[in-house]
Amino acid sequence: MPTGAEPHRPLTRHYAAPAERSGFVRDLFNGTAADYDRINGVFSLGTGGWYRRGALRRAGLAPGQRLLDVAVGTGLVAAEAARVLGDPAAVTGLDLSEGMLAEARRRVGGIRLVQARAEALPVADGSVDFVSMGYALRHVADLGVAFAEYRRVLRPGGRVLLLEIGRPEGRTAQALLKAYLGRVVPTLCRWTAPRRRAGQLMDYYWDTIEACVPAEAILRHLRGAGFADVRCDTSLGVFKAYSGRRPPAADDDAA
Ligand SMILES: C[S@@+](CC[C@H](N)C(=O)[O-])C[C@H]1O[C@@H](n2cnc3c(N)ncnc32)[C@H](O)[C@@H]1O
Repeated sequence: MPTGAEPHRPLTRHYAAPAERSGFVRDLFNGTAADYDRINGVFSLGTGGWYRRGALRRAGLAPGQRLLDVAVGTGLVAAEAARVLGDPAAVTGLDLSEGMLAEARRRVGGIRLVQARAEALPVADGSVDFVSMGYALRHVADLGVAFAEYRRVLRPGGRVLLLEIGRPEGRTAQALLKAYLGRVVPTLCRWTAPRRRAGQLMDYYWDTIEACVPAEAILRHLRGAGFADVRCDTSLGVFKAYSGRRPPAADDDAA
């Protein structure tokens, strides 16, 4: 059931109507899958595997658990989760883009991969211990629907971790990030891969960051979906780690 909790207003510079968003996002990631790891190395400002791995550990990921990585992309979060868990078979990666799934298949051996949308997970109720999603919160159509799905598939007591880039506090920091992500990185991408869509991806990337709802709204939607202990930890002013816990069974209805 739609909740109207869009991560940002429709970006009509990129697609004409909200109904076109999902198809646009899928095409864009299909068209950039082969370039994604290279450009991620530029726009992630040096944070890479160690940041994803540390965030997973801090949020409570530990050996013996089963993890669902939503929006797996080329597998950057899933690979770190497999390292923490010590078992790739404990990881399922899910994405709407077949191009990204093909890259993840090449990159991370032994994990299960599924093509689906965050808003309709083909995963049984209460069947995973941990749900992660890296840098895709801005791309879902409805945060309320996606978060309700994450809660549904988690066992009681299971945890969610959403990594994102957000606007920093302060005008100077915002202007610097806008210049870097909105101008420098798209230009670099156009120079290095002129026939591909990497420059367009980074244009879109910045527009979604600039238009994204604030951290408080994301935390509110997590609480609204029934998560407890929700919090947002910020590193270097821009890297946000939203986390929460599905309450244990007895508390579920009270959450
Ligand atoms: C910026 S990439 C992030 C990849 C990876 N998680 C990482 O940490 O680098 C975003 C990914 O989200 C996927 N995606 C976007 N919207 C989605 C949705 N509604 N459901 C599932 N995947 C989605 C895209 O296809 C893309 O692979």
